[in-house]
Amino acid sequence: MNNKDVQYLNDLSYGYWKSQALFVASELDLFTLIGVRGKSGKVIAKKLGTHLRATEMLLNALVSLKLLTKSRDIFNNTAVSRRCLMKDSPAYQGDRIQHFHNMWDYWSKLSTAVKTGKPTAYDNAKRGVDKQRLREFIKAMHNNASVQADELYIKLQIKKYSRLLDLAGGQGTYAVKFAEKNRNLKAVVFDLPDVIKITREHIKESGMTGQITAKAGNCLEDSLGKELYDIVLVSHLLHAYDASENQKILKKCWDSLMKDGIVVIQEFILNPSKTMPLFGTLFSLNMLMGTHNGSSFSAIEIKEWLKRAGFKGLKRIDLGMDSGLIIGCKL
Ligand SMILES: C[S@@+](CC[C@H](N)C(=O)[O-])C[C@H]1O[C@@H](n2cnc3c(N)ncnc32)[C@H](O)[C@@H]1O
Repeated sequence: MNNKDVQYLNDLSYGYWKSQALFVASELDLFTLIGVRGKSGKVIAKKLGTHLRATEMLLNALVSLKLLTKSRDIFNNTAVSRRCLMKDSPAYQGDRIQHFHNMWDYWSKLSTAVKTGKPTAYDNAKRGVDKQRLREFIKAMHNNASVQADELYIKLQIKKYSRLLDLAGGQGTYAVKFAEKNRNLKAVVFDLPDVIKITREHIKESGMTGQITAKAGNCLEDSLGKELYDIVLVSHLLHAYDASENQKILKKCWDSLMKDGIVVIQEFILNPSKTMPLFGTLFSLNMLMGTHNGSSFSAIEIKEWLKRAGFKGLKRIDLGMDSGLIIGCKL
């Protein structure tokens, strides 16, 4: 008997215990409460209004998860929780963690999705958009984009560009971050009408209305304009759709670009056999349950759509986190 094999299976099986501990701690916002000085379990439970014994068990588990330290009876934040879990930090990830927590409901129905091939995220009895969930989703994307924007700015040499279309740009995080650094950049953030309301708020709050405008539409149905942009960013959109829909979207991107302009696709890119990397393969299941036709795609598939749309000089840029970029040029 190889105990390592058993341990490996144990670790996989109880993975959701770790997620739940993080979800609850983040929901209680206990990292912000602990702050930079540290607090005892007693003080934390009193301020949160939670059960003392239970709260101390959670705090101890968070020490094991390297999200807290414990010295005598005082709990303190680690470097990770200070940077990413305290609400006032620019790299705050709490909304993204909440988004993963929200997905819990439909992930518990994975077996149904595998048996039927149909999404499990939609309750057909409920009509219309759940505004609270939508806002949480858009904020989650913002958490992620906020920490990736600098890397994209440098690797894409955004300082060279002056007309950006941030297609399906969510609240416009990339457009805002890029335009703050490149004062010559004029950007349009295009997204679905319910999202664009949130986008407009964000552009206004960032003080960037002079450089950025928001446009409501559906990129599967509406035109993106003709020869308007020198760069089109398509970040984390294509995984929501199938190959023929993506071909259609990329043709519209082509039309919207000026000569020598580039399209930049950001995705969780799979290897040719679609078996790696881990996050991309699991994300495909997430799209099985969360969309009608979506999945993760391989670089080969994305490049094929780009070629068919007319793009040349295709190249791939790997990023520090789970996603990568594929770029095509309208020569
Ligand atoms: C995963 S989010 C990515 C947001 C942002 N681009 C980022 O990378 O942080 C996908 C976005 O695509 C938008 N979207 C999905 N389908 C769309 C469509 N048909 N037309 C326009 N926007 C769409 C969603 O509303 C959402 O804001």
